[in-house]
Amino acid sequence: MAVYTTIEDMHRVYKRRVPKMFYDYCESGSWTEQTFTENKTDFQKIHLRQRVAVDMSNRSTRSEMIGQDVAMPVALAPVGLTGMQHADGEIAAARAAGKFGVPFTLSTMSICSIEDVAEHTEKPFWFQLYVMKDWDFVARILQRAKDAKCSALVLTLDLQLMGQRHKDIKNGLSAPPKLTPAVIADLATKWRWGMGMLGTKRRFFGNIVGHAKGVTDAAALGAWTAEQFDLELDWAKIERIRDMWGGKLILKGINDPEDAVMATKIGADAITVSNHGGRQLDGAMSSIRMLPSIVDAVQGDTEIHLDSGIRTGQDVLKALALGAKGTMIGRAFVYGLGAGGEAGVSKALEILHTELDKTMALCGERDVKALGRHNLIMPQGFEDPTVSI
Ligand SMILES: Cc1cc2nc3c(=O)[nH]c(=O)nc-3n(C[C@H](O)[C@H](O)[C@H](O)COP(=O)(O)O)c2cc1C
Repeated sequence: MAVYTTIEDMHRVYKRRVPKMFYDYCESGSWTEQTFTENKTDFQKIHLRQRVAVDMSNRSTRSEMIGQDVAMPVALAPVGLTGMQHADGEIAAARAAGKFGVPFTLSTMSICSIEDVAEHTEKPFWFQLYVMKDWDFVARILQRAKDAKCSALVLTLDLQLMGQRHKDIKNGLSAPPKLTPAVIADLATKWRWGMGMLGTKRRFFGNIVGHAKGVTDAAALGAWTAEQFDLELDWAKIERIRDMWGGKLILKGINDPEDAVMATKIGADAITVSNHGGRQLDGAMSSIRMLPSIVDAVQGDTEIHLDSGIRTGQDVLKALALGAKGTMIGRAFVYGLGAGGEAGVSKALEILHTELDKTMALCGERDVKALGRHNLIMPQGFEDPTVSI
Protein backbone atom coordinates (compact mmCIF):
# COMPACT_ATOMS: atom_id res chain seq x y z
CA MET A 1 0.00 0.00 0.00
CA ALA A 2 1.17 3.55 -0.72
CA VAL A 3 2.19 5.64 2.31
CA TYR A 4 -0.92 7.42 3.49
CA THR A 5 -0.73 9.94 6.30
CA THR A 6 -3.97 11.83 5.65
CA ILE A 7 -7.44 11.19 4.27
CA GLU A 8 -6.49 13.63 1.51
CA ASP A 9 -3.65 11.27 0.45
CA MET A 10 -6.26 8.54 0.02
CA HIS A 11 -8.48 10.93 -1.90
CA ARG A 12 -5.72 11.48 -4.49
CA VAL A 13 -5.19 7.74 -5.04
CA TYR A 14 -8.96 7.15 -5.07
CA LYS A 15 -9.31 9.68 -7.88
CA ARG A 16 -6.74 7.81 -9.98
CA ARG A 17 -8.22 4.36 -9.41
CA VAL A 18 -11.99 4.74 -9.70
CA PRO A 19 -13.92 5.54 -12.90
CA LYS A 20 -14.67 9.23 -13.33
CA MET A 21 -18.43 8.62 -13.20
CA PHE A 22 -18.24 7.21 -9.66
CA TYR A 23 -15.57 9.64 -8.49
CA ASP A 24 -17.74 12.57 -9.60
CA TYR A 25 -20.81 10.99 -8.00
CA CYS A 26 -19.02 10.98 -4.66
CA GLU A 27 -17.03 14.17 -4.92
CA SER A 28 -19.86 16.54 -5.80
CA GLY A 29 -22.38 18.66 -4.01
CA SER A 30 -25.67 19.90 -5.40
CA TRP A 31 -25.91 22.95 -7.70
CA THR A 32 -23.19 25.53 -6.86
CA GLU A 33 -21.63 23.31 -4.15
CA GLN A 34 -21.71 26.14 -1.61
CA THR A 35 -22.83 23.86 1.23
CA PHE A 36 -20.53 21.04 0.12
CA THR A 37 -17.59 23.46 0.37
CA GLU A 38 -18.66 25.20 3.59
CA ASN A 39 -19.13 21.86 5.36
CA LYS A 40 -15.35 21.58 5.20
CA THR A 41 -14.23 25.21 5.53
CA ASP A 42 -16.44 25.89 8.57
CA PHE A 43 -14.55 23.26 10.56
CA GLN A 44 -11.38 25.23 9.87
CA LYS A 45 -12.86 28.38 11.45
CA ILE A 46 -12.88 26.67 14.85
CA HIS A 47 -9.62 26.71 16.83
CA LEU A 48 -8.47 24.42 19.61
CA ARG A 49 -7.19 25.43 23.03
CA GLN A 50 -3.68 24.15 23.53
CA ARG A 51 -2.99 22.92 27.07
CA VAL A 52 0.35 21.79 28.54
CA ALA A 53 1.76 20.13 31.63
CA VAL A 54 -1.21 17.79 32.06
CA ASP A 55 -0.94 14.02 32.28
CA MET A 56 -1.49 12.72 28.75
CA SER A 57 -1.02 9.02 29.49
CA ASN A 58 -3.73 6.33 29.39
CA ARG A 59 -5.95 8.02 26.85
CA SER A 60 -9.22 6.57 25.62
CA THR A 61 -11.29 7.26 22.52
CA ARG A 62 -13.84 4.60 23.49
CA SER A 63 -17.40 5.74 23.78
CA GLU A 64 -20.99 4.65 23.01
CA MET A 65 -23.33 5.45 20.15
CA ILE A 66 -27.00 4.58 20.84
CA GLY A 67 -25.79 2.42 23.69
CA GLN A 68 -23.36 0.41 21.56
CA ASP A 69 -19.66 0.39 22.51
CA VAL A 70 -17.46 2.01 19.87
CA ALA A 71 -13.66 2.16 19.62
CA MET A 72 -14.12 5.81 18.68
CA PRO A 73 -17.35 7.75 18.11
CA VAL A 74 -17.16 7.60 14.32
CA ALA A 75 -19.66 5.52 12.32
CA LEU A 76 -19.57 4.81 8.60
CA ALA A 77 -22.43 6.76 7.00
CA PRO A 78 -24.79 5.18 4.47
CA VAL A 79 -23.38 5.71 0.98
CA GLY A 80 -25.35 4.57 -2.06
CA LEU A 81 -23.46 2.70 -4.79
CA THR A 82 -20.55 1.88 -2.46
CA GLY A 83 -20.18 -1.36 -4.39
CA MET A 84 -19.38 0.67 -7.51
CA GLN A 85 -16.46 2.44 -5.79
CA HIS A 86 -14.79 -0.94 -5.31
CA ALA A 87 -15.95 -4.48 -6.03
CA ASP A 88 -18.11 -5.75 -3.13
CA GLY A 89 -17.55 -2.35 -1.52
CA GLU A 90 -20.26 -2.58 1.15
CA ILE A 91 -18.94 -5.92 2.41
CA ALA A 92 -15.36 -4.59 2.42
CA ALA A 93 -16.30 -1.44 4.32
CA ALA A 94 -18.52 -3.30 6.80
CA ARG A 95 -15.70 -5.74 7.54
CA ALA A 96 -13.20 -2.94 8.11
CA ALA A 97 -15.65 -1.12 10.40
CA GLY A 98 -16.40 -4.34 12.31
CA LYS A 99 -12.72 -5.07 12.87
CA PHE A 100 -12.08 -1.50 14.01
CA GLY A 101 -15.05 -1.50 16.37
CA VAL A 102 -17.20 1.20 14.79
CA PRO A 103 -20.70 0.91 13.27
CA PHE A 104 -21.26 0.46 9.53
CA THR A 105 -24.49 1.70 7.92
CA LEU A 106 -25.84 -0.01 4.82
CA SER A 107 -27.73 2.27 2.40
CA THR A 108 -31.05 1.35 0.83
CA MET A 109 -29.28 2.16 -2.46
CA SER A 110 -26.39 -0.25 -1.87
CA ILE A 111 -25.04 -2.71 -4.40
CA CYS A 112 -24.61 -5.60 -1.93
CA SER A 113 -27.95 -6.55 -0.39
CA ILE A 114 -28.79 -6.61 3.32
CA GLU A 115 -28.68 -10.42 3.33
CA ASP A 116 -25.37 -10.51 1.46
CA VAL A 117 -23.67 -8.10 3.88
CA ALA A 118 -25.07 -10.00 6.88
CA GLU A 119 -23.81 -13.29 5.46
CA HIS A 120 -20.29 -12.00 4.82
CA THR A 121 -19.69 -10.01 8.02
CA GLU A 122 -19.64 -10.84 11.70
CA LYS A 123 -20.82 -7.70 13.49
CA PRO A 124 -24.36 -6.31 13.36
CA PHE A 125 -24.68 -3.24 11.17
CA TRP A 126 -27.13 -0.34 10.89
CA PHE A 127 -29.59 -0.18 8.01
CA GLN A 128 -30.54 3.12 6.34
CA LEU A 129 -33.98 3.56 4.85
CA TYR A 130 -35.25 5.99 2.25
CA VAL A 131 -39.01 6.21 2.55
CA MET A 132 -40.62 5.00 -0.66
CA LYS A 133 -44.23 5.38 -1.80
CA ASP A 134 -44.53 1.61 -2.05
CA TRP A 135 -45.40 0.68 1.57
CA ASP A 136 -45.24 -3.02 0.80
CA PHE A 137 -41.63 -2.51 -0.23
CA VAL A 138 -40.97 -0.48 2.95
CA ALA A 139 -42.55 -3.17 5.15
CA ARG A 140 -40.60 -5.93 3.42
CA ILE A 141 -37.24 -4.17 3.59
CA LEU A 142 -37.74 -3.40 7.30
CA GLN A 143 -38.48 -7.07 7.89
CA ARG A 144 -35.39 -8.04 5.89
CA ALA A 145 -33.28 -5.68 8.06
CA LYS A 146 -34.78 -7.21 11.22
CA ASP A 147 -34.12 -10.74 9.94
CA ALA A 148 -30.51 -9.72 9.25
CA LYS A 149 -30.27 -8.54 12.90
CA CYS A 150 -29.48 -4.93 11.98
CA SER A 151 -28.96 -3.14 15.28
CA ALA A 152 -30.44 0.24 14.29
CA LEU A 153 -32.59 1.84 11.63
CA VAL A 154 -31.21 5.07 10.19
CA LEU A 155 -34.16 6.86 8.62
CA THR A 156 -33.01 9.53 6.19
CA LEU A 157 -35.27 12.56 6.08
CA ASP A 158 -33.43 14.99 3.82
CA LEU A 159 -34.00 13.28 0.48
CA GLN A 160 -37.66 13.37 -0.46
CA LEU A 161 -36.43 14.52 -3.83
CA MET A 162 -32.91 14.68 -5.13
CA GLY A 163 -30.75 17.80 -5.21
CA GLN A 164 -29.23 18.16 -8.67
CA ARG A 165 -25.60 17.25 -9.20
CA HIS A 166 -24.68 18.48 -12.64
CA LYS A 167 -21.86 15.99 -13.21
CA ASP A 168 -24.09 12.95 -12.65
CA ILE A 169 -26.36 14.11 -15.46
CA LYS A 170 -23.46 14.88 -17.78
CA ASN A 171 -21.70 11.59 -17.00
CA GLY A 172 -24.90 9.53 -17.43
CA LEU A 173 -24.40 7.95 -13.99
CA SER A 174 -25.68 4.37 -13.83
CA ALA A 175 -24.92 1.08 -12.10
CA PRO A 176 -23.34 -0.75 -13.79
CA PRO A 177 -21.97 1.98 -16.11
CA LYS A 178 -23.26 2.06 -19.70
CA LEU A 179 -20.37 1.38 -22.03
CA THR A 180 -20.25 4.58 -24.10
CA PRO A 181 -17.00 5.46 -25.94
CA ALA A 182 -16.11 7.99 -23.19
CA VAL A 183 -16.71 5.41 -20.45
CA ILE A 184 -14.68 2.76 -22.29
CA ALA A 185 -11.78 5.22 -22.68
CA ASP A 186 -11.93 6.02 -18.98
CA LEU A 187 -12.19 2.37 -17.92
CA ALA A 188 -9.08 1.57 -19.95
CA THR A 189 -7.10 3.56 -17.38
CA LYS A 190 -8.87 1.98 -14.37
CA TRP A 191 -7.77 -1.64 -14.84
CA ARG A 192 -7.57 -2.42 -11.12
CA TRP A 193 -11.20 -1.38 -10.63
CA GLY A 194 -12.23 -3.29 -13.76
CA MET A 195 -10.54 -6.51 -12.65
CA GLY A 196 -12.38 -6.31 -9.35
CA MET A 197 -15.72 -5.77 -11.06
CA LEU A 198 -15.13 -8.66 -13.47
CA GLY A 199 -14.60 -10.88 -10.44
CA THR A 200 -17.94 -10.12 -8.77
CA LYS A 201 -21.61 -10.57 -9.60
CA ARG A 202 -22.62 -7.68 -7.35
CA ARG A 203 -23.23 -4.88 -9.86
CA PHE A 204 -26.89 -3.87 -9.37
CA PHE A 205 -28.87 -2.32 -6.53
CA GLY A 206 -29.04 -5.48 -4.45
CA ASN A 207 -31.76 -4.28 -2.06
CA ILE A 208 -34.13 -3.37 -4.85
CA VAL A 209 -33.72 -5.48 -7.98
CA GLY A 210 -35.87 -8.57 -7.48
CA HIS A 211 -37.46 -7.11 -4.32
CA ALA A 212 -39.52 -4.17 -5.64
CA LYS A 213 -42.54 -5.04 -7.76
CA GLY A 214 -41.67 -5.14 -11.46
CA VAL A 215 -38.01 -4.26 -10.94
CA THR A 216 -36.07 -7.09 -12.48
CA ASP A 217 -33.43 -5.19 -14.44
CA ALA A 218 -31.48 -1.94 -14.52
CA ALA A 219 -33.87 -0.16 -16.88
CA ALA A 220 -36.91 -0.81 -14.69
CA LEU A 221 -34.89 0.19 -11.65
CA GLY A 222 -34.16 3.69 -13.01
CA ALA A 223 -37.86 4.37 -13.54
CA TRP A 224 -38.82 2.90 -10.16
CA THR A 225 -36.37 4.97 -8.08
CA ALA A 226 -37.17 8.18 -9.97
CA GLU A 227 -40.81 7.98 -8.98
CA GLN A 228 -40.59 6.15 -5.64
CA PHE A 229 -39.11 8.69 -3.20
CA ASP A 230 -42.04 9.82 -1.07
CA LEU A 231 -42.68 13.55 -1.57
CA GLU A 232 -45.42 13.38 1.05
CA LEU A 233 -43.24 12.11 3.89
CA ASP A 234 -44.32 13.77 7.15
CA TRP A 235 -43.95 13.20 10.91
CA ALA A 236 -47.00 10.92 10.99
CA LYS A 237 -45.37 8.60 8.45
CA ILE A 238 -42.11 8.74 10.39
CA GLU A 239 -44.00 7.59 13.51
CA ARG A 240 -45.56 4.77 11.49
CA ILE A 241 -42.12 3.58 10.40
CA ARG A 242 -40.86 3.91 13.99
CA ASP A 243 -43.65 1.54 15.08
CA MET A 244 -43.10 -0.88 12.19
CA TRP A 245 -39.40 -1.08 13.07
CA GLY A 246 -39.71 -1.28 16.84
CA GLY A 247 -35.94 -1.10 17.45
CA LYS A 248 -33.32 1.63 17.81
CA LEU A 249 -34.11 4.54 15.54
CA ILE A 250 -31.77 7.27 14.26
CA LEU A 251 -33.30 10.15 12.30
CA LYS A 252 -30.73 11.41 9.81
CA GLY A 253 -30.66 14.65 7.89
CA ILE A 254 -31.77 17.11 10.57
CA ASN A 255 -30.20 20.56 10.17
CA ASP A 256 -32.59 22.81 12.08
CA PRO A 257 -33.41 23.14 15.81
CA GLU A 258 -37.19 22.94 15.25
CA ASP A 259 -36.88 19.68 13.30
CA ALA A 260 -34.52 18.39 15.98
CA VAL A 261 -37.16 19.05 18.65
CA MET A 262 -39.80 17.24 16.55
CA ALA A 263 -37.47 14.26 16.14
CA THR A 264 -36.95 14.20 19.89
CA LYS A 265 -40.71 14.30 20.52
CA ILE A 266 -41.35 11.25 18.40
CA GLY A 267 -38.80 9.35 20.44
CA ALA A 268 -35.78 9.01 18.15
CA ASP A 269 -32.88 7.33 19.95
CA ALA A 270 -30.53 9.67 18.10
CA ILE A 271 -30.55 12.29 15.38
CA THR A 272 -27.85 12.88 12.81
CA VAL A 273 -27.25 16.56 12.23
CA SER A 274 -26.50 16.46 8.53
CA ASN A 275 -27.11 18.16 5.21
CA HIS A 276 -26.32 14.97 3.29
CA GLY A 277 -22.74 16.07 2.71
CA GLY A 278 -23.90 19.13 0.76
CA ARG A 279 -25.78 16.98 -1.76
CA GLN A 280 -29.30 18.26 -1.09
CA LEU A 281 -30.19 21.88 -0.19
CA ASP A 282 -27.40 23.97 -1.67
CA GLY A 283 -27.12 27.12 0.44
CA ALA A 284 -28.04 25.30 3.66
CA MET A 285 -25.77 26.10 6.58
CA SER A 286 -22.97 23.64 7.28
CA SER A 287 -23.95 21.02 9.84
CA ILE A 288 -21.10 22.01 12.19
CA ARG A 289 -22.52 25.54 12.33
CA MET A 290 -26.03 24.28 13.04
CA LEU A 291 -24.85 21.86 15.74
CA PRO A 292 -24.63 24.29 18.71
CA SER A 293 -28.18 25.60 18.27
CA ILE A 294 -29.49 22.05 17.85
CA VAL A 295 -27.67 20.89 20.97
CA ASP A 296 -29.23 23.79 22.89
CA ALA A 297 -32.73 23.07 21.52
CA VAL A 298 -32.66 19.35 22.26
CA GLN A 299 -31.37 19.81 25.83
CA GLY A 300 -30.07 16.30 26.17
CA ASP A 301 -33.41 14.65 25.35
CA THR A 302 -31.91 12.63 22.50
CA GLU A 303 -28.43 11.65 21.42
CA ILE A 304 -26.85 13.80 18.71
CA HIS A 305 -24.57 12.62 15.94
CA LEU A 306 -23.09 14.84 13.22
CA ASP A 307 -21.86 14.29 9.71
CA SER A 308 -20.99 16.36 6.61
CA GLY A 309 -17.49 17.66 6.02
CA ILE A 310 -15.45 15.48 8.38
CA ARG A 311 -12.04 14.76 6.86
CA THR A 312 -9.77 14.70 9.94
CA GLY A 313 -9.71 13.52 13.53
CA GLN A 314 -9.56 17.19 14.49
CA ASP A 315 -12.95 17.66 12.80
CA VAL A 316 -14.32 14.75 14.84
CA LEU A 317 -12.96 16.33 18.01
CA LYS A 318 -14.59 19.68 17.21
CA ALA A 319 -17.99 18.06 16.65
CA LEU A 320 -17.74 16.14 19.93
CA ALA A 321 -16.60 19.25 21.82
CA LEU A 322 -19.64 21.10 20.48
CA GLY A 323 -21.95 18.48 21.95
CA ALA A 324 -22.25 15.60 19.47
CA LYS A 325 -22.06 12.17 21.09
CA GLY A 326 -20.90 10.66 17.83
CA THR A 327 -20.06 11.41 14.21
CA MET A 328 -20.44 9.79 10.82
CA ILE A 329 -18.10 9.84 7.85
CA GLY A 330 -19.12 9.44 4.22
CA ARG A 331 -16.49 10.47 1.72
CA ALA A 332 -13.59 9.93 4.14
CA PHE A 333 -14.21 6.17 4.10
CA VAL A 334 -15.10 6.06 0.39
CA TYR A 335 -11.68 7.54 -0.45
CA GLY A 336 -10.07 4.73 1.54
CA LEU A 337 -12.26 2.11 -0.13
CA GLY A 338 -11.56 3.34 -3.66
CA ALA A 339 -7.85 3.62 -2.93
CA GLY A 340 -7.40 0.23 -1.29
CA GLY A 341 -10.57 -1.79 -0.64
CA GLU A 342 -11.08 -3.17 2.86
CA ALA A 343 -7.48 -2.37 3.86
CA GLY A 344 -7.99 1.18 2.60
CA VAL A 345 -11.06 1.67 4.82
CA SER A 346 -9.12 0.27 7.78
CA LYS A 347 -6.32 2.73 7.01
CA ALA A 348 -8.75 5.66 6.80
CA LEU A 349 -10.16 4.73 10.22
CA GLU A 350 -6.65 4.39 11.62
CA ILE A 351 -5.70 7.85 10.33
CA LEU A 352 -8.78 9.46 11.87
CA HIS A 353 -8.21 7.62 15.13
CA THR A 354 -4.58 8.71 15.44
CA GLU A 355 -5.50 12.30 14.66
CA LEU A 356 -8.33 12.27 17.20
CA ASP A 357 -6.26 10.62 19.89
CA LYS A 358 -3.17 12.82 19.57
CA THR A 359 -5.15 16.03 19.17
CA MET A 360 -7.14 15.17 22.26
CA ALA A 361 -3.88 14.77 24.18
CA LEU A 362 -2.53 18.10 22.94
CA CYS A 363 -5.77 19.71 24.15
CA GLY A 364 -5.00 18.29 27.57
CA GLU A 365 -7.73 15.62 27.50
CA ARG A 366 -7.39 11.91 28.14
CA ASP A 367 -10.97 10.82 27.65
CA VAL A 368 -12.96 11.49 24.50
CA LYS A 369 -16.11 11.77 26.65
CA ALA A 370 -14.63 14.73 28.56
CA LEU A 371 -14.32 16.95 25.47
CA GLY A 372 -16.40 20.11 25.63
CA ARG A 373 -16.68 23.74 24.61
CA HIS A 374 -13.79 24.49 27.00
CA ASN A 375 -11.51 22.91 24.36
CA LEU A 376 -12.56 25.32 21.62
CA ILE A 377 -12.02 28.92 20.58
CA MET A 378 -15.03 29.87 18.49
CA PRO A 379 -15.30 32.67 15.94
CA GLN A 380 -17.84 35.34 16.84
CA GLY A 381 -21.33 34.54 15.59
CA PHE A 382 -20.49 30.94 14.65
CA GLU A 383 -22.97 29.46 17.12
CA ASP A 384 -25.83 31.76 16.09
CA PRO A 385 -27.71 30.15 13.17
CA THR A 386 -29.56 33.36 12.38
CA VAL A 387 -26.45 35.12 11.11
CA SER A 388 -24.24 34.43 8.11
CA ILE A 389 -20.55 34.87 8.85
C1 LIG B 1 -21.58 9.19 -2.75
C2 LIG B 1 -22.53 9.42 -1.62
C3 LIG B 1 -23.71 8.66 -1.55
C4 LIG B 1 -24.58 8.84 -0.48
N1 LIG B 1 -25.68 8.03 -0.37
C5 LIG B 1 -26.47 8.12 0.71
C6 LIG B 1 -27.53 7.21 0.91
O1 LIG B 1 -27.74 6.30 0.13
N2 LIG B 1 -28.29 7.37 2.02
C7 LIG B 1 -28.09 8.37 2.93
O2 LIG B 1 -28.81 8.50 3.92
N3 LIG B 1 -27.07 9.24 2.76
C8 LIG B 1 -26.25 9.13 1.70
N4 LIG B 1 -25.20 9.97 1.56
C9 LIG B 1 -24.91 10.96 2.62
C10 LIG B 1 -24.00 10.35 3.68
O3 LIG B 1 -24.68 9.39 4.43
C11 LIG B 1 -23.47 11.42 4.64
O4 LIG B 1 -24.55 12.16 5.15
C12 LIG B 1 -22.49 12.36 3.96
O5 LIG B 1 -21.63 11.66 3.10
C13 LIG B 1 -21.67 13.09 5.02
O6 LIG B 1 -20.81 14.00 4.43
P1 LIG B 1 -19.25 13.70 4.12
O7 LIG B 1 -19.24 12.87 2.88
O8 LIG B 1 -18.68 15.06 3.92
O9 LIG B 1 -18.68 12.95 5.31
C14 LIG B 1 -24.30 9.82 0.50
C15 LIG B 1 -23.12 10.56 0.42
C16 LIG B 1 -22.25 10.37 -0.62
C17 LIG B 1 -20.98 11.18 -0.66
